[in-house]
Amino acid sequence: MKPDVLFFKNPEELSRAAAAIFASRALQAIRERGRFLVALNGGATPKRLFQLLAHDFRKKMDWAKTHIFWGDERCVPPDDPESSYGMAKVILLDRVSIPAENVHPVKTDLDPVAASRDYALTLRRFAIPPLDWPRFDLVLLGMGEDGHTASLFPGSPVDMTEPVIPVTADYQGRPAQRITLTPLVFNSARDVLFLVTGAGKAVTLTHVLNDISPVQYPAQRIWPVEGQVTWMVDEAAGTALPPTSYLKIER
Ligand code: 6PG
Repeated sequence: MKPDVLFFKNPEELSRAAAAIFASRALQAIRERGRFLVALNGGATPKRLFQLLAHDFRKKMDWAKTHIFWGDERCVPPDDPESSYGMAKVILLDRVSIPAENVHPVKTDLDPVAASRDYALTLRRFAIPPLDWPRFDLVLLGMGEDGHTASLFPGSPVDMTEPVIPVTADYQGRPAQRITLTPLVFNSARDVLFLVTGAGKAVTLTHVLNDISPVQYPAQRIWPVEGQVTWMVDEAAGTALPPTSYLKIER
């Protein structure tokens, strides 16, 4: 399906809309399948969303039937400020009544190769045959100023045969060693939300949404076969998009 692009005045409105979608997809998944499987992203953009889920939207969620995974993770200890799991734990998971067994962090105490293999086994526990991984009900993704998403970086191989791989990256001084889910998993999802804010991403976003260059812009590799991609963009990140790209203005 063609991606939707939703524009918001600012990160606050974008985050509030994303929280509403998160809660809505959770309700639908639990009603239809008895559980909600969601993969979170790291970085700065989702922090406000996580705060809203921990407070304003906390009671709209059935946390006992929600399972939290990560689309990628930096290979650092959970208490490291750069840990995506650690960030979500402090802002969200420690503040809601989600059972510990429903939170599935990457085992970053293992080396990246072992952590990748271990996480693939974690995914397999929730697999929908013939797949070896789950169909996530929702995947949250960000986009770097270089067009990366999760830890799929420019120049990395487009066709991947493994669901989870180790990656070494150099981006804004963030931890280099990571593990990432690959498009095999992301493209099995029912819903993918890209959360993109800030003027620094405006030019890249235009290329991602209008060019065809998945090697250079890994965010273009995310195109679920039977799922919906929605780009949630604030006006600062959307400034370079031609007006025709404005499919919907949400206020
Ligand atoms: C990570 C993310 C990564 C992030 C982008 C955007 O672990 O860093 O998975 O893909 O979403 O780098 O990061 P910001 O939200 O900080 O701009």
